[in-house]
Amino acid sequence: MENANAKNILIIHGPNLNLLGIREPQIYGGNTLQDINRNLSKLTENTDVRLGFFQSNAESALIDRVQQTMHDRTNFIIINPAAYTHTSIALRDALAAVKLPFIEVHLSNIYSRESFRQQSYFSDLAIGVISGLGAKGYELALRYAMASL
Ligand code: DQA
Repeated sequence: MENANAKNILIIHGPNLNLLGIREPQIYGGNTLQDINRNLSKLTENTDVRLGFFQSNAESALIDRVQQTMHDRTNFIIINPAAYTHTSIALRDALAAVKLPFIEVHLSNIYSRESFRQQSYFSDLAIGVISGLGAKGYELALRYAMASL
């Protein structure tokens, strides 16, 4: 993500999303994280967009990666904070600190699930939220980000 002229979009995946494909596929679908990332990469072929990918199960690693965007020319973030959506004021504060536009993506519709999933610490800071459209949600978020840069 060091090309000064490129449009740099960072995709951040939170905890347990490394298990996509085998983790509750009736809720999260059958695509693996690699499938999702590969599909996103295809969308940026022959464009001036550079994608970065980061997945971690650790809150501190996610915060550190968000903070790193202050120095790596990231222009836009697409993030699925996964369970940290509902718990992490610290990750929210990191996104507020770096002041980059971001879209919050969820594979499942968090508003049709348990009540504890129906609160997000991110949605009011996000440009937009896509929830419930499965892997397609990442693609739509990326198309929006590419068009807006
Ligand atoms: C999720 C929804 C969260 O509630 C859950 O903890 C996840 C994934 C989604 O993509 O639907 O891990 O963010």
